[in-house]
Amino acid sequence: MSGRGSNLVALLKALKNSDLAQVVLVLSNRADAPALDRARESGVAAEVLNDHRDGSEWLRRLSEHQVDLVVLAGYLKLVPADVIRVYRGRMVNIHPALLPAFGGAGMYGHHVHEAVIQSGVTHSGATVHLVDEEYDRGAILAQGRIPVLPGDTPETLAARVLEVEHRLLPEVVLHAARAGKVVPLSPVDSIA
Ligand code: GRF
Repeated sequence: MSGRGSNLVALLKALKNSDLAQVVLVLSNRADAPALDRARESGVAAEVLNDHRDGSEWLRRLSEHQVDLVVLAGYLKLVPADVIRVYRGRMVNIHPALLPAFGGAGMYGHHVHEAVIQSGVTHSGATVHLVDEEYDRGAILAQGRIPVLPGDTPETLAARVLEVEHRLLPEVVLHAARAGKVVPLSPVDSIA
C-alpha cells in the first residue's frame, strides 16, 4: 500500500472473524501511509519496506508471515520482478477503471478519472486483475461497472468508483479463499 487504505479497511471488515482468510500483513513503501495505522488498529502486522526495489526483502517479509495472496491496493511503485515470479497467479491489483481501457503507466488516481471523463465514455468502474510484469495488463478477475453521470467531476466519479472497489476487492479475495486459488468471478461483470 502507498495510500490512505480505504480498500484495506473494506477488506479488514469483510474478513473480520472469517475462517476463510485473514489479513496477516500490511506492507508499505511509505512510513507515513495511513494504511499502516488502519492495520495496527485492527491488530494486523504493519511493516515498512526499507527498499521497495529489493525483491528479497519483500519475499523475506511475505514468507515470515506465510502470505498466500498479495493484494495491491493503491501501491504505486513497480513490484520487483522476483516477487511477481514467486507470487504469479497469487497477486492481485485493484484499478479504478474498466481495464484494459484507462490503464498503464501514469494512469493512477485522478489521472484515471480525468481521462475517463475527457473521453466521453458512458461507463467506468473498477477492475481486479492478476499482477504480471506489465502495469494493469494481467488477466482480469472481476469488474464492477457504473455509469458516468452528466456533470461528473474526477472527484465525484472517483468517489462512486471507490464504493464499487470496496465491494469488489473483498469479493475476489473471498472467492479465492473458497476456491483455494485465485479465480475470476463469473461472469466477469457480476458486480454492478
Ligand atoms: C484505489 O482507487 C485503487 O483502485 C487504486 O488506488 C486507490 C487506493 O485507495 N489502485 P485506498 O488507499 O485503498 O483508499
